[in-house]
Amino acid sequence: MKKDTWTFTNNRNNESFDFDILDGSRGPAVVDTASFYKQSGMFLHDPGFNSTSGCASDITYIDGNKGELRHRGYDIEELTSKYKYLDICYLLLNKRLPNKKEAFDFDMELRHRSFIHTGITELFASFRDNAHPMATLSASISALSTFYFEHLDIESPAEMRLMESRIIAKIPTLAACAFRHSQGVPLIFPDIERSFTENFLYMMRAFPDGKMPLVDGKQKFIKDVEVRALDTIFSLHADHEQNASTTAVRTVGSTGAHPYAAISAGVSALWGKAHGGANEAVIHQLEMIGDISNIDTYIAKAKDKQDPFRLMGFGHRVYKSYDPRAKILKRLKDELRDELGIDGRLIKIADKLEEVALNDEYFIKRNLYPNVDFYSGLILIALKIKTNMFTPIFVIGRTVGWITQLAEQLEDKSGRIVRPRQLYVGK
Ligand code: SDX
Repeated sequence: MKKDTWTFTNNRNNESFDFDILDGSRGPAVVDTASFYKQSGMFLHDPGFNSTSGCASDITYIDGNKGELRHRGYDIEELTSKYKYLDICYLLLNKRLPNKKEAFDFDMELRHRSFIHTGITELFASFRDNAHPMATLSASISALSTFYFEHLDIESPAEMRLMESRIIAKIPTLAACAFRHSQGVPLIFPDIERSFTENFLYMMRAFPDGKMPLVDGKQKFIKDVEVRALDTIFSLHADHEQNASTTAVRTVGSTGAHPYAAISAGVSALWGKAHGGANEAVIHQLEMIGDISNIDTYIAKAKDKQDPFRLMGFGHRVYKSYDPRAKILKRLKDELRDELGIDGRLIKIADKLEEVALNDEYFIKRNLYPNVDFYSGLILIALKIKTNMFTPIFVIGRTVGWITQLAEQLEDKSGRIVRPRQLYVGK
C-alpha cells in the first residue's frame, strides 16, 4: 500500500520532494526527513528540538494537551495509587508489571547490590565538603564505570540487565554518600533489611553507628507515611520521554561510551534549574517571595521580558495543561500536610502563587501551569531533606528511566551516533 507522504516544495527552484509519514501507536505522527539533506542540500532547523522526533520509543507516552503520562501504557495515576516505585522500575525494564515473586526477587536483588566499592567511598573523601551533591553524584557515577567491565561495549542482554540493576540499586547509596559528605559526617552502609525507599531515608538520617536521631530521648524511627510520600516522589520522576537529560544519556550512549558515563551525563544535564534543578529553585523562590503580599511583584518580574526572573516550577516544553505529576503531588501535599507537618507558610505562598498565575493572561496565553517541580520541594522539606538534595532525589527516581531509554537505544542495531548539523552564520 502506497505510504502517505508530505511533499516539500522549494519555492526558490520549484523542486519538490516527498517524505513518508510514519504513524506511532498514539500521539502525533512523524515525517521521515532523514534523507532531507541528501535530497534538498539543506538542513531542517529546529534549535531545542521543539518539533523534532529523535527516536521511536515504546517506554513513555505524554499527551501535553490532555496532561496525560503513561509508562508502558499504564496511566501515572494508576501506577502511583496501586504500585510501589520498584514495581514501576520493573515495568519500565521488563515491559510488564511483576508478579509477587518477581517483585520480591527484584527487591532482594537491588538490596544486595546497593553496596559500593570502597574505592568509591574513598573518592568522596577527595571532594570539598561543601561541594554540591549533584557534582559529587555525577562524578561518583562516572567513577563507577571503572569498577564494572573494562570493555565498554555491552556484549549481551544479560550484561545490560546487570548494568541496569547495579546502577538503580547503587544510586541511593551514592546520593546518600554525596549528602553525608556535604554535611561532613562519616558515610554509612545500606541496611538490607529496609526497603529501597526506607533505606535511603535511613542512610540520610542515621548516625554512623546506625542509630537514628533521638527525640525526647528516644530514637526517632522512619514513619510509613514518610516512606510512602518519598516512594511516590520517586515514582513520579521515573521517566519522561525524551527530556533534556534523557537526550543527553542517549547522545552519550550513541557513541558507544560506557553506560555509566551516559548516566553521569544525564545527572549533569538534570542539574540545571531549567530542568531538574527547578525543584531546589522553587523553594529558594518561595523563601525569597517570603509573604503572599509580595506575590504580585514576582509575577510582574516573571512577565517582564527585560527581567531574567522566571517562575520556577512553572511551564513545560510538552505540558500545555496541568502536569499530571504536579496534580498528584499537590494532592499528596494536602493529604500529608498534617501527618508530615508540611510548612504552612510556604504552602500558603505556593498555593496563592499558583492561583494568581493561573488567572493571569500572560500565563494563560502561554499555557504555563505548575510542573512536577512546583510542589515536590514542599514534601521533601517536610521529610527533613535539605534543598541541595532535591535534585539528587530526582536523579534517584529518574535513573531507571535513563537506563531503560539507553537500553532501548542500544537494542536498536540500526541506531546511529547522534550528530546534528547547524546553520553556519560565521565568516
Ligand atoms: C522538568 O522535558 C521534561 O520532560 C522535563 C521534566 C522531566 O520530567 O524530565 O518534566 C522535568 O524539567 C520540568 C521543568 C522544570 N523547569 C522549571 O520549572 C523552570 C521554569 N520553566 C521554564 O524555564 C520553562 O517553562 C521550561 C524550560 C520548562 C520550558 O521552556 P520552553 O519550552 O523552551 O518554553 P519557552 O522558554 O519557549 O517559553 C514559552 C514562553 C516564553 O515567553 P514568550 O517568549 O513566548 O513571550 O513562556 C515564557 C517564556 O518566556 N515562560 C515563562 C516561564 N516558562 C516559560 N515565563 C515565566 N516563567 C516561566 N516559568
